[in-house]
Amino acid sequence: MLFTNAQIATLKSDDSFGLIAQGAIAVDGEKIAWVGPAHDVPQEYSGGETHDLGGRLVTPALIDCHSHIVFGGNRATEFELRLNGASYEELARAGGGIVSTVTATRAASPEALLADALTRVDAMIAEGVSLIEIKSGYGLDTETELKMLRAARQIALERPVDVKTSFLGAHAVPVEFKDVPDRYIDEVCIPTLRAAHAEGLVDAVDGFCEGIAFDTAQISRVFDVAVALDLPVKLHAEQLSNIGGTQLAAKYGALSADHVEYATGSDAQAMATAGTVAVVLPGAFYTLRETQAPPIQAFRDHGVAMAVATDCNPGSSPLASALLAMNMACTLFRMTPLETLLGMTAHAATALGVQDRGRIVVGARADLCVWDAAHPAELAYRIGFNPLHSRIFKGSL
Ligand code: NIG
Ligand code: FE
Repeated sequence: MLFTNAQIATLKSDDSFGLIAQGAIAVDGEKIAWVGPAHDVPQEYSGGETHDLGGRLVTPALIDCHSHIVFGGNRATEFELRLNGASYEELARAGGGIVSTVTATRAASPEALLADALTRVDAMIAEGVSLIEIKSGYGLDTETELKMLRAARQIALERPVDVKTSFLGAHAVPVEFKDVPDRYIDEVCIPTLRAAHAEGLVDAVDGFCEGIAFDTAQISRVFDVAVALDLPVKLHAEQLSNIGGTQLAAKYGALSADHVEYATGSDAQAMATAGTVAVVLPGAFYTLRETQAPPIQAFRDHGVAMAVATDCNPGSSPLASALLAMNMACTLFRMTPLETLLGMTAHAATALGVQDRGRIVVGARADLCVWDAAHPAELAYRIGFNPLHSRIFKGSL
């Protein structure tokens, strides 16, 4: 199949959009077989099925590398309480926050959990997302963590989208272990990780390293099991304070450290050495009215790859728009449109340990977005417009 008459942002390297003005892309099965100027299309690709893209912009399909898109209920009441002055941490300590979503998620039937998530997944797909990372972490008991992860796997069967799962048993301390978080880690979190892994439900292991969640010693115990199971790790680190999560993530060679508002220059250095991606989550920064932005310039200076994600969740980031996340990363964090597009494509793939997509190069998965736009900077620039014309998933329109 040949897609022609396209303005292609290949993102073939990190230093530019890699634009090809009058370009064509040949697809063989699920993969990109050739990309280049339309007048150079090799004979072997010019005879088959051809789609004229009308001069539209083509980019790699978007990848949301950090979401909690499977959950029960919502937290609109908590939103009101925060607007009346309560802080996210106060609400969490008072048994609201993540723990209140745990109650709703435990109560939800598998069917309801899936149906609810699909409404948000559909919004993502409509904006060109083709791979979504989905975390557990609103179950905090074996049965509900498995229920969440099964729902996440089911999403990829119900919709034309790929899913990567992360086990986030170390997300919060459930009420039944309120004062004994270490017992929760040893008696529930770790055995549940083993059970989920045995069922093929886990692609990576995540944790929430924070004063209102778990400290580095507790996260280490979970990560040690991940290492033993040969699973990659990633970490919610330095979101509300700095308690050493980023350094811990780097020590374990984590795929990513996420949020990272309170990370320092030496944290950036450690991430660079470990090849850990910095995943910035401007939806949470915005919703919590955080004032300390992540150290973007330090990430640049140290050569840390940056990804951008929605963090779609009912509390800190009720956001199902990848494009708005890109816009927020520009406006709130002063990232460039190129950085945010790389952050929702190539670097998001790296943050998930996926090598075969996120750039328009020969051999990559033919997951592409066709946009009613003339230049890729337009994607992060507008607010509340969806310029997606069509999406090509696994080589098919
Ligand atoms: O990424 N930081 C921890 N976890 C989520 C928030 C989850 C919630 O508030 O429900 C996050 O922001
Ligand atoms: Fe998160």
